[in-house]
Amino acid sequence: MKVSQHWEKEKYEKNARFVSVYGEELIEWLNPQKDEYILDLGCGDGVLTKKITEYGCKVLGLDGSQKFVEAARKIGVEAVQGDAQNMNFENEFDAIFSNAALHWMIDAERVLESVSKALKKGGRFVVEMGGKGNIEKIENAIFEIAGKFGFKAKKIWFFPSEEDERVLLEKYRLKVKRMTKFLRPTILPTGIKEWLKTFSVPALENAPTELHEKLIDEMTEKLEKELEKNEKGQIIADYVRLRFEAVKE
Ligand code: BEZ
Repeated sequence: MKVSQHWEKEKYEKNARFVSVYGEELIEWLNPQKDEYILDLGCGDGVLTKKITEYGCKVLGLDGSQKFVEAARKIGVEAVQGDAQNMNFENEFDAIFSNAALHWMIDAERVLESVSKALKKGGRFVVEMGGKGNIEKIENAIFEIAGKFGFKAKKIWFFPSEEDERVLLEKYRLKVKRMTKFLRPTILPTGIKEWLKTFSVPALENAPTELHEKLIDEMTEKLEKELEKNEKGQIIADYVRLRFEAVKE
């Protein structure tokens, strides 16, 4: 098994395309206006970023992965590589949009500080991310199986409750206008093993690379028993979404 900390575009395309399909609803929350300047934080392969440009606004994608930045540029999206926890923008954007990316940025305070600085006064911060309880069974299986082999899995995701996120946002002068948390049982089109291979490897950095495949096989076996399946036998992951719009005061 090829193990990499970097996103592999093809793997993501095959195993996680549903992420940008679901993200289209979030564009309605963003309600992009002609000539606005919008930042897509954690733009991934740029598919949603490109959709936002169709509203006649200027959009910049930012992603930590150079591979994703290149993929976004290939489809005509303006994108830069950067760390959301340490951005250099000041009073620049009318809105910042982020779909299914913020839970990867575990220093939430630094992200919000950066976001607040980058937004113009009155600018919108429109986000969908994993909320408290998101992929709980999957995360527990990662910790349990790594522990069984004598390794501590690394905590790589941040899934806040509504209250915790609200307090954090308001600390950085981002006033919550609307917020909702909901369950989104999500069919994994290529199964739990492919999902684990795509997303869980950074959590296994304390375990030797040669062991990753074995760990993922054991997690797969456990989760195939524990997670729900639909009538076609496809695994349904226990996704919980936190969606909000906050405005910079
Ligand atoms: C999510 O969208 O909730 C998610 C995706 C991959 C890894 C962790 C969480």
